[in-house]
Amino acid sequence: MAISVTEIGATYVAEIEGVDLSAPLDGETVAAIRQAWWDHSILVLRGQSINQEQHIAFSRHFGELQVHSVKDWLLPDHPEILVLSNRGRGGVKPLDNGGAYWHSDMTYEAKPPMGSILHGLTVPPEGGDTLYADMYAAYEALDDETKELIDGRIAVHNYRHRYMKMAKGGKRPQPSAEQLAQWQDTEHPVAFIHPESGRKALYINEGFTVAIKGLEPDESEALLARLYAHCVQPQFIYAHKWRPGDIVMWDNRCTMHCATRYDVAKYERTMHRTTIKGAALCHVAAA
Ligand code: OGA
Ligand code: MN
Repeated sequence: MAISVTEIGATYVAEIEGVDLSAPLDGETVAAIRQAWWDHSILVLRGQSINQEQHIAFSRHFGELQVHSVKDWLLPDHPEILVLSNRGRGGVKPLDNGGAYWHSDMTYEAKPPMGSILHGLTVPPEGGDTLYADMYAAYEALDDETKELIDGRIAVHNYRHRYMKMAKGGKRPQPSAEQLAQWQDTEHPVAFIHPESGRKALYINEGFTVAIKGLEPDESEALLARLYAHCVQPQFIYAHKWRPGDIVMWDNRCTMHCATRYDVAKYERTMHRTTIKGAALCHVAAA
């Protein structure tokens, strides 16, 4: 099958055409998609009508799948699939906007995910775009002084802070003792070297990064706030406007993403996500 790869909107985003994920893929096609994924951190495949098994089978071409710690959001028969929806059918994520803050998925894991593959099943006709930030470009655009300040540094990530913030706002049930025990601090480099591309990228996110080690708390907070503001400047952003059947697959290590608002009373928005396991990240050496 001949696939085509076309950059859309930005160099780090490409649309793949000529692939039907409801049929088994040959090795050559998988290799071409994998290569496209290292060349472009975000891939878009339109009009895919696939079932849950096909979503999982496609995802497994890129690695083992990661299961989320909040079991209520997983499909009972297919826990590899996380449901994000504003309609309260069995096992859906109970929010209007899943991930409506800048984050990369599950960076609080010691081996954070390599990527996520999101399938839009029902999408609103307006609003509800997903925004993506290019963390390679964000790193490269930092001034030398900031690079010197962050290269070789370690940040602490934890899911507990995010979850408790949402629980206080009534958007999450109280966590179980098992969940609390699972959500320990994890450490990752603030800037890392991507194992496939060899490029440097920033690796902090508003969702789960708690602090930068070796700085006073107020310094750490100020630097994180400055880095977040830097990363979400318009030149680093791609906004995906969903159509039903879209698949967006992102390299979770060198991008951040953020859900946006839509009329939740008027429209349903239901998405299925698989998450691909990754490895520990290699840091950029201190200057
Ligand atoms: C996700 C996520 C945002 C959205 O699937 O990980 O954060 O717009 N989604 O649905
Ligand atoms: Mn997410």
